[in-house]
Amino acid sequence: MSPSALLSDRQRHDLVLAHLKNGVHLNGHSTLSKKASSTNGFIKADYLLDRNLHKAFPVVKGGKGNYLFLSDGRKIFDTTSGAAVSCLGHGNERVIDAITAQLKTGTPYLASTFWMSEVVEELCKELINGTDGKMARVYLTGSGSEAMESTVKMARQFFYEKDKNTPRVNFVARENSYHGNTLGALGISGHVARRAPYTPFLMDNVHHVSACNAYRQREEGESDASFVAKKAAELEAKFHELGPETVIGFICEPVVGAALGCVPSVPGYLNAMREVCHRHGALFILDEVMSGMGRCGTLHAWQGEDVVPDLQTIGKGLAGGYQPIAAVLISHKVVKALMNGSGQFIHGQTYQGMPVQAAAALEVQKIQREENLMKNVRVQGAYLEERLKTLLGDHPNVGDIRGRGLFWGLEFVKDKKTKEPFDLKMGIAQKLSDTAISPLFNITLYPGTGTADGVKGDHVIIAPSYIVTREEVDYIVKVIADVVHSVFSTI
Ligand SMILES: Cc1ncc(COP(=O)(O)O)c(C=O)c1O
Repeated sequence: MSPSALLSDRQRHDLVLAHLKNGVHLNGHSTLSKKASSTNGFIKADYLLDRNLHKAFPVVKGGKGNYLFLSDGRKIFDTTSGAAVSCLGHGNERVIDAITAQLKTGTPYLASTFWMSEVVEELCKELINGTDGKMARVYLTGSGSEAMESTVKMARQFFYEKDKNTPRVNFVARENSYHGNTLGALGISGHVARRAPYTPFLMDNVHHVSACNAYRQREEGESDASFVAKKAAELEAKFHELGPETVIGFICEPVVGAALGCVPSVPGYLNAMREVCHRHGALFILDEVMSGMGRCGTLHAWQGEDVVPDLQTIGKGLAGGYQPIAAVLISHKVVKALMNGSGQFIHGQTYQGMPVQAAAALEVQKIQREENLMKNVRVQGAYLEERLKTLLGDHPNVGDIRGRGLFWGLEFVKDKKTKEPFDLKMGIAQKLSDTAISPLFNITLYPGTGTADGVKGDHVIIAPSYIVTREEVDYIVKVIADVVHSVFSTI
């Protein structure tokens, strides 16, 4: 039972209000002294410089299944798998054993300049089999940003191999997108806040078209076909504005994660965009770092509509957080161009394709396949959707509930009719996340902003592990509903 279910509405309202107003800090946004914050189970770092220099964070001592255990004795339900990463939950013995066995070989790292390792090749074979042979090769990296960075270079090299003076220099990507934080990946991203400080350094040969956001853009009563036709026309126009012969490729997420809060593309959209790309000889590129590797109910999100990309990135769910690893899946067409050209990918880093990373990812992928976890993602995902819509669909500040598989977003609005977002200063998404993780509720919610127009707008992401049960879905939706009701009752 949700802890808050034990409280009356009045008590809950007063407690949340006290937390939010009086600095009884919910997750360490605090001016508390270091001593006070650490005795409360929060630590504000003195040595680590991470995303926030002022914030104290709760300390995790361990985890098992869907739960994280904090130093203050609390047990937190990990409703978000971290940042949609821990797809098998925490403390999976099979994965830990596979990593340990690999470490015991004495070579967790091997320089890919010199050596090959069987586990690395086995992982790549597993991944290619997972595409039914529709993709040809795998390039391994350490993070989603590196995978996107590599994709940008490989896409350019695809044309460069055939013509050293190729005019193909432009990418088209989308507004309200996030593809990573390295300069190339950020240059592609249409994330206003994350781009802002670095704009002078970002590639000016990336051009953006609008996202595919049915909630905010579709006319009342407009069909999928009509909406998709408008998007294809917009891309077509962008190609012509740039000169179609100058475009390397179009890049998008099949389901937009962090930037929009799980906005799925409208049926037919991916196919229509690929058609525009291919008609102009450009590449169709999918970023599935967040939405892929099972998160949407098929191993790859594109498999839902069988729209095979020319290049695709994968990340988070690949090794489920047991090792840092991401990858680029490369189509037959692109591999052929490299094979028939220089025979090399002009790129590389020290830590790529490490055997220990591969051992973790291979075991995670085998578990998913052997235990048919995709079925659980689809079944529990459908139930999660139904529960969220039943418990929160009528809430006056829940504007939209959207997603796919076990990847769901709630978008919050001040006015449900006009879809007007809240003032950014109110920090709605962060408040929801802080309240969720507080001792009143003990769950995680992944907050995001910029949902409405790139700057304003609030959402939270719900992305539980693929091992979540029906009873757990009941539990988390009940608690999430309590969190939402509590926070908005104080506003
Ligand atoms: C769609 C997408 N692409 C790329 C990235 C970057 O991945 P990483 O944080 O592993 O560098 C992310 C991270 O959230 C993502 O969601």
